[in-house]
Amino acid sequence: MVRKTYVTDAKYFLHGGDYNPDQWLDRKDILADDLKFMKMTRTNTFSVGIFSWSMLEPEEGVYNFEWLDEIFDNIYKNGGRIILATPSGARPAWMSQKYPEILRVNEYRMKQLHGGRHNHCFTSKIYREKTQNINRLLAERYGKHPALLMWHVSNEYSGECHCENCQNAFREWLKKKYNNDLKALNDAWWTAFWSHTYTDWSQIESPSPIGENSIHGLKLDWKRFVTDQTISFFENEIVPLREITPHIPITTNFMADTYDLIPFQGLDYSKFAKHVDVVSWDAYPAWHNDWETTADLAMKVGFINDLYRSLKQQPFILMESTPSGVNWQNVNKAKRPGMHILSSLQMIAHGSDSVMYFQWRKSRGSAEKFHGAVVDHDNRSDNRVFKEVAKLGEILEKIGKITGSNRQSEVGILYDWENNWALNDAQGFAMETKRYPQTLQEHYRFFWERDIPVDVITKEKDFSRYKLLIVPMLYLASGETLGKLKEYVKNGGTLVMTYLSGLVDENDLVYLGGWPKELQEVFGITPLEIDTYYPKDKNSVTYENKTFVVKDYATVIENRSAAVLGEYLEDFYAHTPAITVHPFGKGKAYFLGARLEAAFHQAFYGNLTEELGIKPPVTVRHGKGVSVQVRRDEAHEYVFVMNFTEEKQPVAFETELKDLLTGETLYGETVLEKYEVKIAERSLSSR
Ligand code: GLA
Ligand code: ZN
Repeated sequence: MVRKTYVTDAKYFLHGGDYNPDQWLDRKDILADDLKFMKMTRTNTFSVGIFSWSMLEPEEGVYNFEWLDEIFDNIYKNGGRIILATPSGARPAWMSQKYPEILRVNEYRMKQLHGGRHNHCFTSKIYREKTQNINRLLAERYGKHPALLMWHVSNEYSGECHCENCQNAFREWLKKKYNNDLKALNDAWWTAFWSHTYTDWSQIESPSPIGENSIHGLKLDWKRFVTDQTISFFENEIVPLREITPHIPITTNFMADTYDLIPFQGLDYSKFAKHVDVVSWDAYPAWHNDWETTADLAMKVGFINDLYRSLKQQPFILMESTPSGVNWQNVNKAKRPGMHILSSLQMIAHGSDSVMYFQWRKSRGSAEKFHGAVVDHDNRSDNRVFKEVAKLGEILEKIGKITGSNRQSEVGILYDWENNWALNDAQGFAMETKRYPQTLQEHYRFFWERDIPVDVITKEKDFSRYKLLIVPMLYLASGETLGKLKEYVKNGGTLVMTYLSGLVDENDLVYLGGWPKELQEVFGITPLEIDTYYPKDKNSVTYENKTFVVKDYATVIENRSAAVLGEYLEDFYAHTPAITVHPFGKGKAYFLGARLEAAFHQAFYGNLTEELGIKPPVTVRHGKGVSVQVRRDEAHEYVFVMNFTEEKQPVAFETELKDLLTGETLYGETVLEKYEVKIAERSLSSR
């Protein structure tokens, strides 16, 4: 049986969310209301069983599936489908009590008590056996149920365990990586520093605030191990699922570091994505916050979606979002009228084939009782949030044909998890201003504001599909990555690289003899020094007769054979190159030596996109804060025009489109209301 790569071949959007009927089993009236409300909101898919282990296995080896049988049957009869979770995200108390080895040990080497969730040891043999066992029973029982749509494996894998079993697993992982050669490890980690040489594998311990923290190679390998060990735990979980339900797609929900809305830092998702059939993620942007505009936040949401979509270069699933506020921010603000529909459709515009919520119904007690939900404590279907969800349900039903369509980009921005780990670890430069993911977002901003689609890709991807590849702050770059970048330019690509790039190899060891020779060849320059700025330090760079402000970082450059496009104006490196371009093979390589204000990106990328003929797929004229994003399949382009401002916005359609909700032709000038979205299509044959 062939497994589907994503799930909506049926051409409808998954709409629904985390459903916890196990909290309400003694309230048949509420379970009946749920079914009624599901119909009213046109929700069709529910993630069930995420935290149900103690309900499924109340005592060791004693199982209770009857309640879940009923939920499966009822949802199916109601026209819905189920995304069935494996319950490993939280375990029953009896299990922690009987098998303390499954409890996590933190970086201070403190064994954790039972409680919370997402806190198991990912190495424990017993926990691995227990999860496989319950997963097997779930697959056997529900594998053939027509309601089963997808597997939701565990929940938001994260965190580290530093127990003795994990230490041993780490040592084994290292032995394999370094071919049992301790000297190779000592060399790679530069352990002669501070007399940290290891003379036996058993001396190696995971990094700790009360122990080793100065060996960057160790810290990097530990983070890699944590990703690999989490994937290995996941792979162990899915053995029975693959065996018994080979036709059912598997996902696990990824997340973001929410305050800044940057990619989650705990796991390298570029590796994890290879193990799932479809990428799904949980998006909780803090809309209406008091530190950024709606449009600024929308830009960041665009960025992270374009990264998670590019992990598999196919549509993804929005697994969780809130219909209103959350409960874990400092201030948990309700989404204002219109924002729920706008923010959900933005996810779709960037490639989601679903809008799923945490949570279907607010729980009565415990930590999440005030987290936004479709159904509130009042159990009413006429409140504002419920009605907005229902309205979105109607919209989604009208635009189901969009599912499965992808995006097409000529611009790639390179994001690398390992790079961010190493860069943040680097003691040097400025501790507060590295901001690697945020810097990528600042480069992305130009394209978002101009409606030019971008793939945010990772280093193992094929670069040759992009006309323009932007690689900011790639501090850590292996020889392999450098080789790929060189090939890319040689074969005709246009590469933009910045300050703080190409400093260390994959072991976080600095390249000796100056900048790597591949980069010197490609860029025709040699960076000599990196100057780090205090916030009050001032410098600027000239570019096309204008001057642009330098912030945080500036590279002093020795020019070999590049053309100089911009020079510094001040300091001991005044009148030396800051921005250069160099032809190499059939391509061109631009180097941005300094971090420059947004106006520079506007000017620079404005020129570059014009030169390369990179344009938005459809032309809609608009002001700041309106975003136009396009998906396409073989026959159509699907166009989302979204107003991320609190004001009306005039827009002018210069491409004729058909409004998918009203059937009207969109051409010429019109006005978008606050938070309004238009969804339109154009047949590709009409181009
Ligand atoms: C995460 C979890 C959910 C829930 C939400 C609340 O995404 O997966 O179980 O706790 O956060 O926002
Ligand atoms: Zn452990």
